[in-house]
Amino acid sequence: MAGIVLDKLKKSYGGTEVLHGVNAEIADGEFVVIVGPSGCGKSTLLRMIAGLESVTEGEIRIGERVVNGLEPAQRDIAMVFQNYALYPHMSVRQNMAYGLKIRGLPKEEIDRRVEEAADILEIRDYLERKPRQLSGGQRQRVAMGRAIVRKPQVFLFDEPLSNLDAKLRVQMRLEIRRLQKRLGVTAVYVTHDQVEAMTLGDRLMVLNGGRSEQFGTPIELYERPQTTFVAGFIGSPAMNFLPATAEGGEVVLENGARLPGGTGAGRVRLGLRPEHLLADDGGPIRLQAILAEQLGASTLVHGTLEGTDSALVAALPGTRAVTEGEVLGFSVAPAQMHLFDGEGRRIG
Ligand SMILES: Nc1ncnc2c1ncn2[C@@H]1O[C@H](COP(=O)(O)OP(=O)(O)OP(=O)(O)O)[C@@H](O)[C@H]1O
Ligand SMILES: [Mg+2]
Repeated sequence: MAGIVLDKLKKSYGGTEVLHGVNAEIADGEFVVIVGPSGCGKSTLLRMIAGLESVTEGEIRIGERVVNGLEPAQRDIAMVFQNYALYPHMSVRQNMAYGLKIRGLPKEEIDRRVEEAADILEIRDYLERKPRQLSGGQRQRVAMGRAIVRKPQVFLFDEPLSNLDAKLRVQMRLEIRRLQKRLGVTAVYVTHDQVEAMTLGDRLMVLNGGRSEQFGTPIELYERPQTTFVAGFIGSPAMNFLPATAEGGEVVLENGARLPGGTGAGRVRLGLRPEHLLADDGGPIRLQAILAEQLGASTLVHGTLEGTDSALVAALPGTRAVTEGEVLGFSVAPAQMHLFDGEGRRIG
């Protein structure tokens, strides 16, 4: 087993730099998720760890070894891709055995490992089938099986669940997590799905335009996002941002409403999570409703801060009907107000 260190890692394609110096220390056995919008450099970063892309500047260490110059096969890693990349003409057994055969392992050892992995993944009954005779989730498990049999030091995943339907995605998410804990393997998992990121990772790195904006536990990122980007990206529905002024221990909204709490002085952006707005008829935050989305367990009320054009969303428990134009009152606990400066950096 091995940890991974990324040291001031940069990547350029031609003259264009797409990763601008990424640092991370990933502990042995840790599950780290890299999350960020399309094009931010997630796959590039993962492929550099795998050895499928060269390093322009900086260093990657796996365990004690600097791996910059090593071929993928020498890095002792296994990668699971979005499209599984199974060989269609081979059976499940052959697909899982292929990499081991290439490495010249004895047949008995290959059989033993394939069957052990098949048991863990509960695909023993499908070993003689071809990939096309399997469901999406079963194929995904075969792809995982192919990674497991190699007994790598590190698992790398690039959006492995994005081709599956929502229900299967949740199930496979739990399975991947359980499997990684059981095998104790270090894992790096790339996704643009923030729910996946929150639930899978011991820690997450939020990547934005080739820079790591924050690296921490899911709860740290949720409770103390360091930038408006992280604040808006982590959490669903997304955090509200309202222009405001901080003064004398209060935050004053555009419409003059005063909220106790907050530090600093001057122009700020106030971040409020929809689930932290507490229904309170006399509360200072007045939301003028446009429409409600009933989700069953909760209701999202979309509207604007009364007297302004600033969008505001509140999540209410249970079902709740609203009429357009209706004004609802809310309050918020001071600890759940997030203040950011003009550059989008957290204050305090
Ligand atoms: N081979 C390449 N040549 C030139 N530019 C590339 C190459 N591969 C990626 N890029 C660019 O590097 C940037 C990062 O790409 P990357 O594939 O890492 O993004 P990503 O975060 O994985 O996005 P997605 O969520 O869409 O998969 C993008 O701007 C992309 O256009
Ligand atoms: Mg990608």
